[in-house]
Amino acid sequence: MLNTAPRTARILIIDDQPANTLLLEGILEEEDYQGYRSITDSRKALPVFLEYQPDLILLDLQMPYLDGFDVMKQLRPRIPPNTFFPILVLTADINPETKRQALAEGATDFLTKPFDATEVILRIGNLLQTRALYLQLQNQNQLLDKKVRERTMELEEAQIEILERLALAAEYRDDDTGEHTKRVGQMSAQIAKALGLPQTEIELIRRAAPLHDVGKIAIPDAILLKPGKLTPEEFAQMKTHITLGAKMLSGGRFPLLQMAEEIALTHHEHWDGKGYLGLQGESIPIAGRIVAVADVFDALINERPYKKAWPPNEAIEEIQRQSGRQFDPLIVQAFLDRWSST
Ligand SMILES: [Fe+2]
Repeated sequence: MLNTAPRTARILIIDDQPANTLLLEGILEEEDYQGYRSITDSRKALPVFLEYQPDLILLDLQMPYLDGFDVMKQLRPRIPPNTFFPILVLTADINPETKRQALAEGATDFLTKPFDATEVILRIGNLLQTRALYLQLQNQNQLLDKKVRERTMELEEAQIEILERLALAAEYRDDDTGEHTKRVGQMSAQIAKALGLPQTEIELIRRAAPLHDVGKIAIPDAILLKPGKLTPEEFAQMKTHITLGAKMLSGGRFPLLQMAEEIALTHHEHWDGKGYLGLQGESIPIAGRIVAVADVFDALINERPYKKAWPPNEAIEEIQRQSGRQFDPLIVQAFLDRWSST
């Protein structure tokens, strides 16, 4: 054996002269190549190519019906881009113009007739080796891509899990069931869906919204758990949970953390500008406007240290009353649509 090209490769010989195909087959057999097929009618080139899926084509140029150039024209759209697919042109005509034209049509290399067995074996071996290396590289790239995708997914899952636990830690401060944050996440996602936001955005909101009150971790118990009304000083301190939360979540590189920061900072903004920071209308990020509605609604229909649970219909009326004041009217509408569809 003159080279280490894979002997299992599939080789397609296209030459109208049976004497040539027989000669080439003989050379291949001599070299232990197990997979080859020959056709003498070039009109069958395309169907045989599609069915046989060769690794290399040995192609005659001068043939009746379809010549080698026509065959390459037919095959070209079927060869995937960025693939190394060798076509070895067999010709007695070695003038530079023919060579140039054949290269332009997709030829990889040339073999001049009459064939020299050693030259045939070397050319075939080199082209098959290059193709095998190319396929190996492509395989490795695909494997690497898959690994990177898996790792990224793991990283994202780990991130989501940590954020969920962080949300829970904050939640346990004033609600030992830890359910409020989850419900706010779900409801925010449903509102986002009713608004027609893209799926990726909906998922980000679902994951980020539960962290809206994470800053409460830093609010003293005496204020957070006080059953009665807060004094103005206490209320001022309570309000800092938005900036504390945003600070805790700031500097994140991932969209999820960035959205969580945005929501933590803006979920107490009012559409009319009378919220904690005084932002108004659409200058309040949409995620903040969505969570504002979901958070208030969920707080109303559930019991808190300082209040009883409201019946849902009264809570809905309150949300409606606040449309255009505390809440973005469009988001209130999406909330009502979502509510009426359940
Ligand atoms: Fe809050």
